Amino acid sequence: MNYKYKEQFRQNLVEWFQREKRDLPWRRTSDPYKIWVSEVMLQQTRVDTVIPYYNRFLEKYPTLESLAYAPQEELLKMWEGLGYYSRARNLQAGVKEVVEKYNSVVPDNRHDISKLKGVGPYTAGAVLSIAYKKPEHAVDGNVMRVLSRVLHIEEDIALPKTKKVFEEVVEMLIDHEHPGDFNQGLMDLGAMICTPTSPKCLLCPVRDYCIAFHEGDMDKLPIKTKKTKTKKVQYKVYVAINSDDHYLLEKRPSEGLLADMWQFPMIEIKDDMNSEEQFTTHYGSRIKKVLNNTLLSFKHIFSHLTWEMECSLVKVELISEIPSNAGFYSKDEIKKLPMSVPMQKIVNVLN
Ligand code: ADE
Repeated sequence: MNYKYKEQFRQNLVEWFQREKRDLPWRRTSDPYKIWVSEVMLQQTRVDTVIPYYNRFLEKYPTLESLAYAPQEELLKMWEGLGYYSRARNLQAGVKEVVEKYNSVVPDNRHDISKLKGVGPYTAGAVLSIAYKKPEHAVDGNVMRVLSRVLHIEEDIALPKTKKVFEEVVEMLIDHEHPGDFNQGLMDLGAMICTPTSPKCLLCPVRDYCIAFHEGDMDKLPIKTKKTKTKKVQYKVYVAINSDDHYLLEKRPSEGLLADMWQFPMIEIKDDMNSEEQFTTHYGSRIKKVLNNTLLSFKHIFSHLTWEMECSLVKVELISEIPSNAGFYSKDEIKKLPMSVPMQKIVNVLN
């Protein structure tokens, strides 16, 4: 691609970043492990949310070794609330590989780092450019938005193959002296100036070199086809207490959504089924008394799925076998178990 403003674009972006960059905790280190942690947390999660998690996480796991051998339940507890929990599991698996296979040195080339569990093209490029100053691309949705406007690229960013186009653009544009600042400059520009709606073009350090600004059609870019609607699933949730005031909880399977996280029993609501019967059959517990039939109702939106939750508080007694992944726990014990955000919401209304 021939882009005649390459030099000016690069220089203005890097100078703007060096002048205006946000003071973020992962920008005070060049330790590749810490930068790796930050980039994993920042995927799908906002900077403001990540900061306290990042600080707590690195206090607990300051080195690759400390994370590599941490107990899984403790790790999930540290990640609780951040969502996308497989990120934590994959990060730990990748870190363990570095300890065992690379003598605790994070690889400094794309070939090796990309083989680590959970390290995709974006994370690889971010760690290589920021920690090791390698001129490698790190293209996420923000970066695609910025570059689609600057270069007026009209390809559909919802298609996986489009990412390659932007990776090639970054390879052409990247500053070989300051690759980390260049990539982070694109990220900050996307976060603060070149926002999805109402971009602040008058504050933009590269607007002179932005084709969309000159054409006045920033709002039409990037082109992104709509996702299909997310699926809705309705659940009846039983917050079930036994005679000792312990709560019935179960651990989710170790594969799939919210793997290995703990939850109150949930029964999918289907027209032709009686939720209470299902509860008894599945959990070997009989509902003796409904204490509060409308304890809480709420929706929780995952990226691809919405849970509609109706929660009841019930008194139960065990009448047959309880599943091996379930048990009764006191409130203090519950607080130590990793639980998803929707389950935390329920815990928070218990007194
Ligand atoms: N989003 C993803 N990575 C980031 C970084 N290093 N700085 C700011 N925002 C980011």
